[in-house]
Amino acid sequence: MGAIVLDNPIIRHKLSIIRNKETGTKEFREVIGEIATFLCYEAMEDAELQEVEIDTPICKTKVEQLDENKYAFVPILRAGTGMLEGLVKVMPNAKIGHVGLYRNEETLKPVRYYYKMPQDIANREVIVLDPMLATGGSAVDTITMLKEDGVKKIKFLCIISAPEGLRKLQETHPDVEIYTASIDEKLNEVGYIVPGLGDAGDRIFGTK
Ligand code: PRP
Ligand code: URA
Repeated sequence: MGAIVLDNPIIRHKLSIIRNKETGTKEFREVIGEIATFLCYEAMEDAELQEVEIDTPICKTKVEQLDENKYAFVPILRAGTGMLEGLVKVMPNAKIGHVGLYRNEETLKPVRYYYKMPQDIANREVIVLDPMLATGGSAVDTITMLKEDGVKKIKFLCIISAPEGLRKLQETHPDVEIYTASIDEKLNEVGYIVPGLGDAGDRIFGTK
């Protein structure tokens, strides 16, 4: 479906944990962070490195380094912050912006309540984080706001995606690369992903 899907037995095993309704908040949060780390490695495959010379304990040698100042992470509140820990482990110097959105439960349309970006966001590659891509409304609106701020390169990382949301995101923002750990079957009549994992925010924060 045009998205890059992590195809790895460890990821499938981790998904089995977070899909299980018996999994508690602590383990759920930990596994979300672990899968996010894997997604980050995958999304950084095209990263450009700079060659620098260093001294090992043995001799001088040329090594390749990443300029983390070129990147920003943007979690969509609330559930996206559950993925953040897994990404800052990989790139601790990336800047972080926040977008606050919640889905109106009747219309399923995203409602914005917060937006705060690093000042130089337009000069950074932005990696947007949200565990769930359902109808796609939240991802589409977030990416539209980032483009209005001048951001040119955007990637979207999610744990579980629905075909409906993937289609909408690809149609609206075809330039955005999507990385996901699973493409599920469909959305149900109330906009939840099937089989999915339920409400990601509630499970990460223990609010239900
Ligand atoms: C969830 C999820 C996404 C959104 C996905 O957030 O974390 O942001 O729904 O749905 P969509 O693709 O149909 O827009 P929710 O609105 O439940 O807010 P929360 O993270 O604060 O719980
Ligand atoms: N948001 C969630 O947290 N879960 C879904 O299945 C759909 C949207």
